[in-house]
Amino acid sequence: MNILFATPECAPYVKTGGLGDVSAALPATLASLGHDVHVLMPAYQGMKVAGEMGEGVDLAPWGPWPAAQLVPVKVGSGVTMLLLTCAGLYQRPGGPYVDASGRDYHDNALRFGLLARVAALVGTPHSPLRGWVADVVHANDWPCGLAPLYLAQSRLVSPHEPTAASVLTIHNLAFQGTFDMATADPLGIPGHWRGIDGVEFWGQLSMLKAGIQFADAVTTVSPTYAREIQAPEHGIGFDGILRARSSRLSGILNGIDPKVWDPAKDVLLPHRFSRGRLKGKAACKAALQARLGLQLEAGAMLFAVVSRITPQKGIDLVLENLPQLLSSGAQLVVLGQGDPALQQALRDAAAQHPKQVAVTLGFDEGLAHLIEAGADAFLMPSRFEPCGLNQMYSQAYGTPPIVAPVGGLLDSVTDASADPENGTGFVMAGAHGEGLADALERAQRAWREPKQWKRIQANGMARHFGWEDSARRYLEVYRAAAIEAGRGIAAAL
Ligand code: ADP
Ligand code: GLC
Repeated sequence: MNILFATPECAPYVKTGGLGDVSAALPATLASLGHDVHVLMPAYQGMKVAGEMGEGVDLAPWGPWPAAQLVPVKVGSGVTMLLLTCAGLYQRPGGPYVDASGRDYHDNALRFGLLARVAALVGTPHSPLRGWVADVVHANDWPCGLAPLYLAQSRLVSPHEPTAASVLTIHNLAFQGTFDMATADPLGIPGHWRGIDGVEFWGQLSMLKAGIQFADAVTTVSPTYAREIQAPEHGIGFDGILRARSSRLSGILNGIDPKVWDPAKDVLLPHRFSRGRLKGKAACKAALQARLGLQLEAGAMLFAVVSRITPQKGIDLVLENLPQLLSSGAQLVVLGQGDPALQQALRDAAAQHPKQVAVTLGFDEGLAHLIEAGADAFLMPSRFEPCGLNQMYSQAYGTPPIVAPVGGLLDSVTDASADPENGTGFVMAGAHGEGLADALERAQRAWREPKQWKRIQANGMARHFGWEDSARRYLEVYRAAAIEAGRGIAAAL
């Protein structure tokens, strides 16, 4: 199959969260299964992609967009990166979505509208890539949400031409890509698709809704989240349309890339370790404590958070439980960035307890690996979590996770109190402060029983979170979407 994977971020080039990791690992796994995978993403400022560079192609100006270029680079994983450039749109200081001061770029509708429009074009006979047309366009999150709409538009305009099947993956329903409806004009969205059955969401245009409405298949990143988003509590206004499309909605759990996240081979660690040889893990703990200025104390239980600092991630619940944690002699390490008020509260806690609390604000891949390896237990008290990757990384690194009973966390962690034989971590009774307090207490009790703790660690390290099974499930979805696309074309005729 010719698969076009369209994404706003991809590790190791540009990553703000889990989508970056998924955009690296899933396409590479699909390629290893024998498919021809192209990953389309913007070429942001300072991005370096090493590989075999192909001939660039020019895209003529269209609608509000000036001329753009697509440069293919075949990278080591067997995937072809397709880098999109367009005068001034992507080459800016700041992140993929926000400027250097953290504000959304004012022209995100056009920046990502172009990404989606190019993705769709590659799925038609007018593909600008000489001789390469996608059979399926796999769009990820709101920045690519218009791609299925543009493909549906091609089918309407030229029903005799073949078009790629479209698949939308929702990595986080909370990011809905809403813009003023006036942007529908420059984006070329036909008038009859601007209403409630089209892109309209509370009077605005939602790119995520466009994807949900027009994709031939919709997926999200865990089976539990796929169920949760069809009910009001986690549906954030989309539960109705998701229920309406439930026959084409499925949840496929993310995996982890063992080339990046394996404590026995991790080049970012000062000491390596494995299930049978945990000595290196103790050395990583000491290295972490030394690096962050914490008390060098093997007997202090070390809890860790590596996360976007947002209300989604339940960081406030960690702060609420901090006094009890500190009075028990435990330590806390936090790495992350985001919400200014939460950052300040964390900074204050670290200033008050420098030997017990260390807070690093920023993005640091190397430190994230050291924390996964050096901590005793990992905290993810998320209010919602589509999948979550850190709880999987921490299980692989012998760092049992303490998680809220939501989304992908439920699908990937087995509670050690409920199932002592097979437990890999601790599942909170609810995504609230008392739920975390109780789970922390259970974890601390287990940690004081080395035999019991070792079993939980070993269970987690033995878990297989490979991408191969999930990649095969995506292939099934692609095939089902192709059948659906055929129906769409037949209907247009
Ligand atoms: P989300 O995508 O919602 O942020 P995930 O758990 O799926 O959550 O993925 C987060 C990814 O980003 C993980 O690979 C995690 O290690 C990484 N990460 C998050 N914050 C930081 C940070 N400040 N520094 C380094 N890595 C981070
Ligand atoms: C999102 C979700 C996270 C998920 C990631 C990758 O950012 O918040 O739970 O793991 O996407 O799918």
